[in-house]
Amino acid sequence: MAAAKRIAVIGSINMDLTARADRHPRVGETVMGLDLRYVPGGKGANQAVAAARLGGRVSLFGCVGDDSFGERLLEGLRENRVDVSHIRRVSQESSGIALITVAGGDNSIVVIPGANSHVTPAYLAERREAILESDIVLLQNEIPVESVEFAVGMCSSAGKAIIWNPAPMRPLSGRAMEQITYCTPNEHEAALLFPGTGSLNELVEKYGGKVIVTMGERGAMAWERGDFLRIPPRPARVVDTTGAGDTFNGALAYALASGRTLREALSLANTAAGLSTERYGAQAGMPLHSELPERWQ
Ligand code: RIB
Repeated sequence: MAAAKRIAVIGSINMDLTARADRHPRVGETVMGLDLRYVPGGKGANQAVAAARLGGRVSLFGCVGDDSFGERLLEGLRENRVDVSHIRRVSQESSGIALITVAGGDNSIVVIPGANSHVTPAYLAERREAILESDIVLLQNEIPVESVEFAVGMCSSAGKAIIWNPAPMRPLSGRAMEQITYCTPNEHEAALLFPGTGSLNELVEKYGGKVIVTMGERGAMAWERGDFLRIPPRPARVVDTTGAGDTFNGALAYALASGRTLREALSLANTAAGLSTERYGAQAGMPLHSELPERWQ
């Protein structure tokens, strides 16, 4: 079997300050929490960890601050076998922080970017060679939009496969949209990104395989060679959905890098995302390769 392809993840690295509560507060309301945990997160870091825990060869490109969170975040990434040698520690800057409330299995998140704002086109240009050593490039939306567009242009000219996860939702230029290989919105992001396109069926068909829509507990949907791919969900005993979308994207990159077809890759990604919701925390819940069902071993 051919060696697995390399994956470059370009994106955010955050410390998640996660409060658990019995329910989410309404606007203007205070509720008492159950506990507070500090857990590594950030959509870029989460997706890198998801792919690496499944066995992917992953390098993460991003920035942390020179604070104690920065050190802990790098340590966690190393423990998960993510290559952190290209990550920049920005002096006199704090690491990205996400304030998360988890209640009833669902979450709400506010992100303060901190060092993630230093993932600039100049930072990426300096690491061009290292980024282009990879075959698949995975991006999200927690770094500046001009950096996402720069990375897409650079990687597409070099013929790389590009997966763009539009979370949190912010549109890309028409040119960048043409250059990406796969775009992976959830239903809410899809409605904002492609207004007026009609039903999800019409959307995935119209974009001919470029758009993969994740639908949480209803699975995922895509289009391949003239056919709908409807990937059923993996039933889960949900504890915390934080990072489920990131697990899906990281696992998708891993599966494509290891030579799976799109249908297989989506099915594996759905399974991994389902498993990730059964444990608390974004990265802590992500499955190891050995935890996947037998058919994926
Ligand atoms: O997708 C979940 C992630 O979003 C969290 O880990 C948090 O850091 C925010 O980036």
